[in-house]
Amino acid sequence: MVVLNDIESVTEALVKRKAEFANRPNLPSLDKLSNGRKNIVFANYTPAWKLHRKIAGKALRQYLAGKHLEEVLHNSMHKCLPLMAEEKEEFDPEPIIDLMVFHMLNSVCFGKSTELNDPEFQDFIKKDKKFTELIGKGFVEDMFPIMYKIWTTQKYRKITEIFDVIAERYRKKLEEHKKSFDRDYIRDFTDALILARQEAEDEEDKEVLSELTDLHLVNTISDIFGAGIDTSRVTMYFAVHYMAGLPEIQAKVHEEIDRVVGKNRLPGVKDRENLSYTEATLHEVMRLGTAVPVGVPHSTLCDTTVGGYDVPENTMVMINHWALHHDPNYWKDVDTFDPTRFLNEEGKLSMKPESWLPFSAGRRVCLGESVAKPELHLMFASIMQRFKISLPEGTSPEILIGGGGAAIQPAPFKIIVKERK
Ligand code: HEM
Repeated sequence: MVVLNDIESVTEALVKRKAEFANRPNLPSLDKLSNGRKNIVFANYTPAWKLHRKIAGKALRQYLAGKHLEEVLHNSMHKCLPLMAEEKEEFDPEPIIDLMVFHMLNSVCFGKSTELNDPEFQDFIKKDKKFTELIGKGFVEDMFPIMYKIWTTQKYRKITEIFDVIAERYRKKLEEHKKSFDRDYIRDFTDALILARQEAEDEEDKEVLSELTDLHLVNTISDIFGAGIDTSRVTMYFAVHYMAGLPEIQAKVHEEIDRVVGKNRLPGVKDRENLSYTEATLHEVMRLGTAVPVGVPHSTLCDTTVGGYDVPENTMVMINHWALHHDPNYWKDVDTFDPTRFLNEEGKLSMKPESWLPFSAGRRVCLGESVAKPELHLMFASIMQRFKISLPEGTSPEILIGGGGAAIQPAPFKIIVKERK
């Protein structure tokens, strides 16, 4: 395995030699957890992956065009902010943030609203968290593939059980959508996906399209949930925790939101361009609290090189986003939380710093970046507009890292929220 720890080598691999580093590793567990590489995240770099990704991207754009994303997000905030306001003592914000993110993605994918005590939501989040924890630590079976034939570990059996249950949930949703599908009335991402496939059928290579079966679409929905929920919820935990421990920065965010948005409406997607300090604060949260610290593993398609080293075909390559975000050659006072490093002299967002790469780059760049950025911004700005957040007395503002799967998160913590008058 090769681990790329600085922006020079990452740019060389992902941008300069993009196709050569665009494959995924040949691990049997990934075959199983994608029904034979029928999803986007674990699919190999093939024409089918390309088309699959194109269709999913198009469906996301079509469905979320105009004010749709904002509407979905506002619904989610109208549901979750009052739940936060009910908390009069110190509390663990995880369940409400989980609902905020799940509600949003569930509305995007299936057009369905969710309550905090909804058993489907509770069960999904529990399974999703377990899945992320198990997959991030890898499987000994992948090191000794003979084990797949004779005996698999309890951990592997557990993750495949969770995968099958979740996939069945998506399969049922797709079936329901197909039955009531009307191409003149697209209700959600699942409808948009069915429509995009129909449209692609008119234009694209029939052979490739035969690879876009229902199972591929089920896996695409699974990608959106799998890749979207953990990354977003974990980023919001970090955001809330940082703000609770940094009252001066929080006060500047409050001041900006009050000035730009006021108090009588929720922040909208368009406000983002005028909320530079708030956006920069979120960028800094994503730098210090890198949600996906070593990304998704890549693999080489052919013999190649990086940083002057030979890298043979089929080598697993990890992108160490955490190292890029903590590289003292690029970040002054690397451990200090300082949003101004993302701002220019006029206080506006400056060009993206070179070594800031939470969504990766190149052929495999995060497919959801254009959804995640406004999503996180609007959630964060809405929470900050309504609440002043603090830590319970005697709690250290230092953030300890917990979790330790594919995504990391702050160790369990509590906050106190006060409605801002
Ligand atoms: C905080 C938010 C997010 C972060 C930090 C994030 C980060 C990442 C990273 C690091 C990768 C791996 C890229 C690589 O292989 O080099 C990735 C892939 C991916 N992300 Fe995201 N992501 C976020 C939100 C989302 C959302 C909301 C969606 C869906 C709407 C999404 C969909 C995907 C998909 C489908 C891939 C696989 C791309 C491929 O293999 O071709 N992500 N993301």
